[in-house]
Amino acid sequence: MGPPTMSAVTRIVDRVRDLAHALFHSFWTPTPATLRRWAVAAIVANAGITVTGVVVRVTESGLGCPTWPRCTPDSFLPVAHPEISPINTAIEFGNRLMTFLVLAAGAACLLAALRLAPRRPALVRLAWLQPLGVAAQALWGGLVVRSALNPVTVGMHFLISIGLIAACYAFYARSREGDGPPVRMVHRDIRVLAFVLVAAVFVLVVAGVVVTGSGPHSGDEAASRFGFDLEMVARLHADAAYAVVGLTFALLFALHVTDAPGRARRAALVLLGVELAQGVIGYVQYFTAVPAALVALHALGATLVWIATLRVLYMMRSRGPLPAPVTRPLDAVPA
Ligand code: HEM
Repeated sequence: MGPPTMSAVTRIVDRVRDLAHALFHSFWTPTPATLRRWAVAAIVANAGITVTGVVVRVTESGLGCPTWPRCTPDSFLPVAHPEISPINTAIEFGNRLMTFLVLAAGAACLLAALRLAPRRPALVRLAWLQPLGVAAQALWGGLVVRSALNPVTVGMHFLISIGLIAACYAFYARSREGDGPPVRMVHRDIRVLAFVLVAAVFVLVVAGVVVTGSGPHSGDEAASRFGFDLEMVARLHADAAYAVVGLTFALLFALHVTDAPGRARRAALVLLGVELAQGVIGYVQYFTAVPAALVALHALGATLVWIATLRVLYMMRSRGPLPAPVTRPLDAVPA
């Protein structure tokens, strides 16, 4: 193959310029559609960092950068260390770098919410939670390292991410609906059942974190463990999963017999599917001595169960159509 021609280079340069232009306008002159895309990006980035965080743990890379905020006592960037494998350092440092991706998605959501015309204060308030949550997680990450991966700090790190994902999902859901008062689309008792389900899934996730803190994947051999019997806590965790699946069946049945809107019924069905897949992964990893890859997949499954649960809740109400967009004068757009 010969060298690229001038016209091919020009085409690539034009394409990159167009992409950069579209990216900039997606938050500087946002439309409801671009705002929604940033919300999805934030959800994906936050779900992604929970999985990379678990990869740090299951590859024993938790102290691959033994200090914080620096990676080693005298460098922010990884440098060769006689006692630490370069692979562990790369994995730990890679997870730290993921923070910037999550922050970029959060900052784009905030900018887009601030620039949206007409401005929607509820969206701006929700968007602020993202950079604030990322800052809290960055500080908490320091505590995780400095406490030598104490399981309470590691577990809280996961749970704060679960909270942050809820904030991102709320932002996404609000970006798709108007600002009218919330109108219930299902019977009141069904909505109560959905709230009970959200609480039960949260308890299930906390129980999972306790199983992890009692199990073999501590992140480093120097890390302490909860003193619980692993089999006992895993059984309690599985019992909580049965309760969640039972509640989801009850919800599906109630939605069906009350002829609830199709979108709520479909969301509950998707939730049931994700829960069952997650349950299978849970059992397989339990009976195969928690292999690293399955543990990471199970963590991804946990975030998906959480997102699917929140989705059910938002599908049961309506806040009317989106406000009509206002076109910004062109002179407000920087060249
Ligand atoms: C269906 C819903 C389920 C959800 C939402 C869920 C969620 C979770 C979460 C959040 C963790 C902690 C992840 C981490 O801190 O890295 C976890 C760990 C765990 N779960 Fe589940 N789980 C479910 C079902 C099950 C079932 C049915 C079992 C079967 C026994 C199971 C077995 C385990 C085990 C063994 C761990 C510890 C893995 C490790 O060593 O880190 N899970 N789960």
